[in-house]
Amino acid sequence: MCGIIGYVGARPCKELVLSGLEHLEYRGYDSSGLVLVGEHGLDRARAVGPVKALRAVAGGVSETATAGMGHTRWATHGGVEERNAHPFLSEDGRFAVLMNGIFENYIDLRAQVTAKGHTLTSDTDTEALVHMIEEEYDGDIAETCRRIFPRLEGHFAFLAMAIDEPDRIVAARLAWPPLVVGRGEGENYIASFTPAFLEQTRMIQIVDESELVIVTADNVEFRAIADGSPREHEIERADDSIEVAAKGGYESFMLKEIHEQPTAIADTIAERFHHGELHLDGFGLSDDDLREINRVLIVGCGTALHSGLVGRYLIEEWGGVATEADVASEWRYRNGVFDPKTLVLAISQSGETADTLAAMQIAKERGARVVAVTNIMGSAIARAADGVLYTRAGLEIGVAASKTFTAQVTLMTLIALHLGAVRGHLSPEDVALIGGELRELPDLVQQLLDDKELDAQLDMLADRFCHDRFFLYLGRHLGLPICQEGALKLKEISYIPTDAYAAGEMKHGPIALLGEDTPVVAVATDSHVFEKMASNLEEVRARGAHVIAVATAGNTSIEAHAEHVLYVPRTRPELQPILAVIPLQLLAYKITGRLGLDVDRPRNLAKTVTVE
Ligand code: AGP
Repeated sequence: MCGIIGYVGARPCKELVLSGLEHLEYRGYDSSGLVLVGEHGLDRARAVGPVKALRAVAGGVSETATAGMGHTRWATHGGVEERNAHPFLSEDGRFAVLMNGIFENYIDLRAQVTAKGHTLTSDTDTEALVHMIEEEYDGDIAETCRRIFPRLEGHFAFLAMAIDEPDRIVAARLAWPPLVVGRGEGENYIASFTPAFLEQTRMIQIVDESELVIVTADNVEFRAIADGSPREHEIERADDSIEVAAKGGYESFMLKEIHEQPTAIADTIAERFHHGELHLDGFGLSDDDLREINRVLIVGCGTALHSGLVGRYLIEEWGGVATEADVASEWRYRNGVFDPKTLVLAISQSGETADTLAAMQIAKERGARVVAVTNIMGSAIARAADGVLYTRAGLEIGVAASKTFTAQVTLMTLIALHLGAVRGHLSPEDVALIGGELRELPDLVQQLLDDKELDAQLDMLADRFCHDRFFLYLGRHLGLPICQEGALKLKEISYIPTDAYAAGEMKHGPIALLGEDTPVVAVATDSHVFEKMASNLEEVRARGAHVIAVATAGNTSIEAHAEHVLYVPRTRPELQPILAVIPLQLLAYKITGRLGLDVDRPRNLAKTVTVE
């Protein structure tokens, strides 16, 4: 989730662009840059780190330019280095581009421009576009971008400028990354999100999908990408405060992030499938190394551990290798036995969790190969590992993890598929088939988030159970880590005591906890253990507890075993966890809302636990 701002008008715009970027920093960044139409051509400055680092290097950039654009980067392709920061300039210095989103066919695009003699200076997908524009420019930057657009695949929003047309910025978007125009007097803005210009104007126009926009000081023209036909957009007033706009119109960062999950999952998958084949770079281990691996250990804390517990099942099943998962703060004090044939996966969205970092370092000292799974490029865990695989969930501000969890489970699924493919445990056909089903998940998650019936059900359940003082979560196999994650969500934001247990363990103690009216949340999606779950739920109901079951759409037999059923779309059982967690996230969120608690800042908790 990068931040974008562009300005064309009568005023010097360097400060307007810089402060606009500062208002976008909440979306997460690891570097930033700007380009202005200076007296002698396109003036650019870029820096790693926050916008204040960019301010420190932008001294030489034109103070009088009245057109320009800026970008805060959340790295997806290419490390956190200045050379990978946007904007990118063409080799002749006449064109500039910056982007939010991903070109899924970036490997092809980079090969095409290289074949035409262009020298790529970054590892990014975006840079290919500026060379394509240089190749094809015919004096009209808008029409040049419109002609190139159909060759770009993925989900993206980009801005482009040409020194020969200094009075305009051209923008275009495909799929989710948003663009919004800010209309001023003798000046206009275009940005990824309204906070970038809200202090200057509240009059906005929303850019629709597959639209091209031409922004000049006195006019904003919208065109359909397909045929260049004009499009009309009414000018609306944005009433959000900057704080509210920062939440994308949602009441909290956590709710925004729950709703960003389709994008986080799609971005984590993105270009890792190339023409149906899985390409998972970053292990830092060759395929031969991976074939030598005889044991996988997964370590993490909290939600990260829960995604690792899902990964444990998948890596054993599809990777065909013995796999265990353990909480980092415990594992680090075991006397673990390792050798170079042990692969350790250290999961941490922040990449800064002290216990996970410590566990990794012990594993490395004892000869294991360590791969980090993290959301933050350049984080401590990323730097300490032999290899790094990134989720691409964007910055997560809510203390309670949501989109980083489903992005982690997505990446664990890709790791399991990759190991299966490399070790010959899965056929290329199976990998392609499962990969295709995995790429359907963003739409299925979106379907759940848009499901008004489910939303009403969850509201009813939250109203009914928000004053209960204990919830028991039960699950089996892949349902168990989802129960553990659902139980953690509820306890950490509502402070209601919860417990999550393997349903088969219930008779060995936890069933004593059940009294009349205890709410029991069960994950009972279709799988080889469904019947076992059903009989466990009978035992629970016989003791007067209220069962709320997450189940697979179409399997109405669950209704005989549960008082309330939250249906999720059907998919392969191994991919069901990403769907099953959504209702549990929303249930925890809604209950907490009824208790009047601050979901974004729960008591006693920090977003990153850098202490042991
Ligand atoms: C999850 O909602 C919590 N915020 C917490 O358990 C978190 O998952 C844990 O602290 C691990 O954080 P990490 O992924 O940054 O290592």
